[in-house]
Amino acid sequence: MAAIEWRSDLETGIAKIDNQHKEIFRRINDFLAACEQGKGKDELEKTLAFLTDYVQIHFKDEEDLQIQSKYPDYEAHRKQHQDFRKNIIEVQNKLKAEGASLATVLLVNRIVVNWLVAHIGRVDKAFAEYLKKQA
Ligand SMILES: [Fe+2]
Repeated sequence: MAAIEWRSDLETGIAKIDNQHKEIFRRINDFLAACEQGKGKDELEKTLAFLTDYVQIHFKDEEDLQIQSKYPDYEAHRKQHQDFRKNIIEVQNKLKAEGASLATVLLVNRIVVNWLVAHIGRVDKAFAEYLKKQA
């Protein structure tokens, strides 16, 4: 799978959030590069562990900002974050049960990587637009 590219239109304008998103992209790209080299299985556990810890902080930062700014779509946004955490747990369980397999690597690409890119590009972006209007 090709690397995901950071584009300026993904920027929310909130430096803290943008830096966290860029870090997520960077780590996903490390993982995708490992996949290209046939080392995806080796990197799976590390990548999932990183994402589990990192999104905990990152999602909370986003949600705090949404509460502070009285964002009307806060509940729906928070629900998406919860769904993502469930996805990660699902993949980790699969990893524990089956070990690292090509199927797990593909599952990560489908429900973790694609989810994050879509979420940042649409849902986080919508919040950023709202925030800009409040300023
Ligand atoms: Fe978000």
